[in-house]
Amino acid sequence: MDIVEVSPRDGLQNEAVHVTTADKIALIERAIASGLRRIEATSFVHPAAVPQMADAEAVMAGVPRCADVSYSGLVLNRRGFDRAVMAGVNEVNCVVVASETFSQRNQRMSVADSVQTVRDLVDDARTAGIGVSVTIATAFGCPFEGEISESAILALAGQMAALGVDEIALADTIGVGVPTQVSRLITGTAAIAPGIRLRAHFHNTRNTGYANAVAAINAGVTVLDSSIGGIGGCPFAPDATGNIATEDLVYLLDRSDIDSGAQLPELIDASDWLSGVLGVRVPGQLARAGSFPS
Ligand code: COA
Ligand code: ZN
Repeated sequence: MDIVEVSPRDGLQNEAVHVTTADKIALIERAIASGLRRIEATSFVHPAAVPQMADAEAVMAGVPRCADVSYSGLVLNRRGFDRAVMAGVNEVNCVVVASETFSQRNQRMSVADSVQTVRDLVDDARTAGIGVSVTIATAFGCPFEGEISESAILALAGQMAALGVDEIALADTIGVGVPTQVSRLITGTAAIAPGIRLRAHFHNTRNTGYANAVAAINAGVTVLDSSIGGIGGCPFAPDATGNIATEDLVYLLDRSDIDSGAQLPELIDASDWLSGVLGVRVPGQLARAGSFPS
């Protein structure tokens, strides 16, 4: 099971505390030292929209370059894509939102325009030699529109598959999904996007995140997003809380004999360190409870 460490982006984009560029780079170094090999390092969005990500170029300029580490940058438009390529990302994570209202609020474009944006960027990504992942946001429910029909999600997934992206992710942006829904949607996506790598992104807002992760694995995802400490959230989604915590997820995977390549002692250290940086105890539970057996 591969993990995409999203704490430097999803984790920090919603934090009220100012985190320095040096601390962001230190977080990424700790993630790598923990054995994580895919890192969503930052987002290339408008600095006024998400001030926490205004130092995207500086973060990318400071991260260690290792042949087996892939850095991803979140991009929502052409300008963001060009910035990400210039900054030397290995892959981009594009976002299309399943809800029209959330799409407008988040990225000021219609769903159709965001699909067109991905269409425009895929070839350029190939030319630039970087990977393209697409995240379908609010796939399990929208804070403004409520339930999103599963047929609408699968239609979007089908459109993304037709564009030839490398990976499709279903994201529970506001942490409302439950395992049966995850199973249905992942199974449906796998059927409509054969041969395309599937990733899932869960927030633990209603304590269903880890159960959803297990359901997603059983349904065929090979990549999960998680965030050291379980920090995270979206500034455009009211009451959104953190991602599933990487260390809690790795504990679950380790004890289930599912290899992720990540090391718990280093992750627990990183989680404790992050609590210090943010000045609050992070939500992840393993760092508090300790691993088992100790
Ligand atoms: N980075 C920096 N500047 C950008 C930019 C980007 N990715 N995209 C647009 N701009 C600038 C343009 O150059 C333009 O500048 P100008 O007025 O000096 O000419 C200005 O912003 C307006 O451009 P426009 O294309 O109309 O963008 P917009 O105002 O519709 O904003 C987004 C679109 C996507 C950039 C903006 O909504 C955004 O950054 N949202 C953040 C959403 C987010 O991060 N959500 C959480 C993760 S999913
Ligand atoms: Zn998220």
